[in-house]
Amino acid sequence: MNKWIKGSMGMILAAALLSGCGQNNNNEKGGASASAQPSSGSEASGKTLTLGTSADYPPYEFHKVVDGKDTIVGFDIEIAKDIAEDMGAKLEVKDLPFESLLNELASGRVDMVISGLSPTPERAKAVDLSDIYYKAEQAVVVREEDKDKFATMDALKGAKLGVQTGSIQQDIAKGIEGAKLTSLGKISEIVLQLQSGRVDASIMEGPVAKSFVQNVKGLAIADAKPPVEDDGYVIGVKKGNKELLDSVNQTIARLSKDGKIDQYVTEANELAESK
Ligand code: ARG
Repeated sequence: MNKWIKGSMGMILAAALLSGCGQNNNNEKGGASASAQPSSGSEASGKTLTLGTSADYPPYEFHKVVDGKDTIVGFDIEIAKDIAEDMGAKLEVKDLPFESLLNELASGRVDMVISGLSPTPERAKAVDLSDIYYKAEQAVVVREEDKDKFATMDALKGAKLGVQTGSIQQDIAKGIEGAKLTSLGKISEIVLQLQSGRVDASIMEGPVAKSFVQNVKGLAIADAKPPVEDDGYVIGVKKGNKELLDSVNQTIARLSKDGKIDQYVTEANELAESK
């Protein structure tokens, strides 16, 4: 058993159990949107599929000004668009704090969560999780001048660590002897703390670490490699929403087979780098 996931996920499970009365509903909207596909079977047009995500996580999901408009982009968002299209639904994206996502799902305020979500046994009890759609490793981000100090996980013992609230990285950090944790809602806030010296290191997904190190001066990825047992990312749907879960898994299978997900990752990285 993973020892690092126990604490924080209990709360989400409890909240999920308490809020079991909400129905997962695709809000019926007036007319079919221009982007919605004609119904290809059982899916009626005019449906909205609501995605919950924490858009602080390039290249997974992040804000970017596109054609003068603040837009949420990233490879998770591209996958969400395909899922909606395959269902003949219109996609609505809600940017929410990462720690709140599974509760929003359990209570039916969002239909699915795509947010670089790692599967854990506790999360699997609270919501239903899809097949794995992408895999990546964890990384330790530090100030450039400290890179050599943090060559191993042992070096993180007693260090000041910044992590995202409710993430598996928070649980990894809790398992590091003597580490002093600063848990924050957004990765950008952690990066500020790193720059100003209030924390010494942060654990985050490798692709996110790379993106921040490329775009923010003075940061580096250390050689320390955090241990993660269940690597890979999944999509969450409300417990028991088999129809949506099947649909999500079908789209994942199609995208994986066609090499689309790797393509989306490459494109999202380019988007994150361009100013
Ligand atoms: N993979 C980690 C987890 O599931 C962190 C995900 C954070 N995602 C985000 N969009 N900020 O706990």
